[in-house]
Amino acid sequence: MKFLYCAVLILAVFAASHAYSASWGKRNNSDYLLSRQIVVRNPIKNNYISVNVNYPGNGVGYYNISLVSVIDNFRNTSGATPSLWSGGPGFKFAQVNLRSQVSRGINSTVEIYGR
Ligand SMILES: *[C@@H]1O[C@H](CO)[C@@H](O)[C@H](O)[C@H]1NC(C)=O
Ligand SMILES: *[C@@H]1O[C@H](CO)[C@@H](O)[C@H](O)[C@H]1NC(C)=O
Ligand SMILES: *[C@@H]1O[C@H](CO)[C@@H](O)[C@H](O)[C@H]1NC(C)=O
Ligand SMILES: *[C@@H]1O[C@H](CO)[C@@H](O)[C@H](O)[C@H]1NC(C)=O
Repeated sequence: MKFLYCAVLILAVFAASHAYSASWGKRNNSDYLLSRQIVVRNPIKNNYISVNVNYPGNGVGYYNISLVSVIDNFRNTSGATPSLWSGGPGFKFAQVNLRSQVSRGINSTVEIYGR
């Protein structure tokens, strides 16, 4: 019983730590940081906020993306949920969506690496 409780707790912590910071792909030491955008939004009462982050601003970039990384700067359970909507590793563009929780703001850093 105690073991089960511990396992559930570890799973819950694991899920929480992965829900608000996420990454797709992997990079090696020779990859460049192509873009770092910090998205900050104030909370809206009783509503959520959805923000699309595009790399590059529009169209297609020069470098091949190897890693898309989203870091939740709140580092608690209030962060926005990131999703990779299009592009990403293997592409030259990426669109990441950040969806805040209801009545919570956003403070997330979106980093894109490539070569
Ligand atoms: C990183 O990847 C590039 C392209 O695949 C490769 O040429 C390079 O040797 C790699 N560097 C490291 C440190 O693994
Ligand atoms: C991106 O990947 C394609 C296919 O592997 C390759 O032909 C192209 O040279 C790469 N672009 C850069 C900037 O490395
Ligand atoms: C967002 O998070 C960063 C890193 O923790 C912090 O330095 C910054 O002050 C935060 N910005 C806001 C508006 O809360
Ligand atoms: C998480 O951190 C943010 C920024 O520091 C704060 O506004 C928010 O209330 C915190 N949420 C919880 C559940 O502590």
